[in-house]
Amino acid sequence: MVSSDRLGPGETGEIKAVMQTKGKKGLVTKTVQVRTNDPEHPLTILKLKARIQDPFHQDIGSSTTLFSDPCRTCHVERGIGKMGTVLFRADCIMCHRRGKKAGSIADMRKLPRKDLRKIISFGKEGTMMPGFASVAGGPLTDQQINSLVRYIKNR
Ligand code: HEC
Ligand code: HEC
Repeated sequence: MVSSDRLGPGETGEIKAVMQTKGKKGLVTKTVQVRTNDPEHPLTILKLKARIQDPFHQDIGSSTTLFSDPCRTCHVERGIGKMGTVLFRADCIMCHRRGKKAGSIADMRKLPRKDLRKIISFGKEGTMMPGFASVAGGPLTDQQINSLVRYIKNR
């Protein structure tokens, strides 16, 4: 971490600090304490600041981009071949959980099955909710959509 643990007056050294950014968002700070036997500056606090850039979510276009590259890696591929709960976790929960603009499962459950199936299949115009049915250009089969309706209604 430190280039040398002994520095004479006026000498300079280097300190290497590593900041863990995985899973972090926005502004992240880290402090490093440097303790020395310099009677005038026994303790120096270094503050590191970084703004984490998320290359995918800076300028989100329309809902249809979700199913194409590079978005599909996270928003489509994890749900391939999955059903019910697992499919909901893979494809839906990133937008539908507490604290998000889109409703939670509890909100969705209030809708009749017919409406649920329709919105999941064809999306909600003017929002980031895309149509997931293959006939609407989405990645899901009818069977997968039915499994989601069942999961939402029965949970
Ligand atoms: C590396 C994986 C990954 C990629 C690639 C990715 N996303 Fe996401 N996306 C996520 C995750 C995870 C969340 C949930 C983030 C959160 O809740 O903080 C999310 C959330 C979203 C949301 C909801 C934002 C909100 O706050 O409700 C939208 C819209 C979205 N992504 C669109 C896109 C678009 C468009 C692309 C392609 C340009 C894309 N994503 C690429 C992982 C990804
Ligand atoms: C990219 C974000 C995103 C993803 C992924 C997403 N939704 Fe949505 N969803 C939305 C938004 C935004 C709305 C509209 C909320 C509003 O009306 O303001 C919505 C609306 C809905 C509605 C209508 C009820 C409501 O809350 O308004 C249902 C049902 C729904 N989504 C189910 C799903 C299911 C099931 C999946 C997974 C297959 C899914 N959504 C994936 C963003 C998303």
